[in-house]
Amino acid sequence: MNVIVVNNYARVSEEVAKIIRNQLKAKPSSVLGLATGSSPLGVYDLLREYYQKGLDFSCATTFNLDEYVGLEPDHPASYHYYMQKNLFSKVNLNPERTFIPKGTAPDLAEECRRYEELIQRAGGLDLQILGIGTNGHIGFNEPGCNFGSRTRVVSLSASTLRDNARFFATEKEVPAQAVSMGIKTIMHAKNIVLLANGGCKAEAVRGAVRGPVTENLPASVLQLHPAVTVVVDQAAAGKL
Ligand code: F6R
Repeated sequence: MNVIVVNNYARVSEEVAKIIRNQLKAKPSSVLGLATGSSPLGVYDLLREYYQKGLDFSCATTFNLDEYVGLEPDHPASYHYYMQKNLFSKVNLNPERTFIPKGTAPDLAEECRRYEELIQRAGGLDLQILGIGTNGHIGFNEPGCNFGSRTRVVSLSASTLRDNARFFATEKEVPAQAVSMGIKTIMHAKNIVLLANGGCKAEAVRGAVRGPVTENLPASVLQLHPAVTVVVDQAAAGKL
């Protein structure tokens, strides 16, 4: 694992955005795995800026990690909405090659199978971007999940429901389930970048980087991957 500790959130965003830019320059048809949540917002700000300055996204394909079950794409807390707002509507990605699991698919098991197949047909993920939950989750692979898992429907843990309540009017509105890429799906990416900022992530980052590899802290599985970069600010690195 390559661990990069920088001063603050702006620098975290810059490091990660540069990695994505380099990936796209080296291989314009890259398959990118994308995350949502607070952590990558600064990265998307910069990607929009790079696009304005000429970075070309037109040949790339993207796959998002997850989506809430039951939220329509136009729901303001859905990850479809988030991606449209923060990236897809602002750069020249081909809408036919931006994929997010459909949380309202009538047959969710079929949707999960379809999603895995799409990733495989695209040639697999070249670069997966990950945030990390305060409980060590990646995607919505919660503590106790199976390291052999593929895209599937998962139940969100109590701590994730609490953490994500900030994106909804009340905690009760947070969907109890999500469709998430599995750990095995993520681990098949050629390169992985995990970003984290803030003291509330310090314990999870310590577990991911230094702790035992255990399904109780899903991000610890990244220690078994040959090409992982962890980019954290001083606060998130506070327990390393
Ligand atoms: C988001 C995702 C989650 C988040 C994690 C951290 O697509 O899969 O694993 O990365 O919950 O969220 P933030 O960045 O909001 O702290």
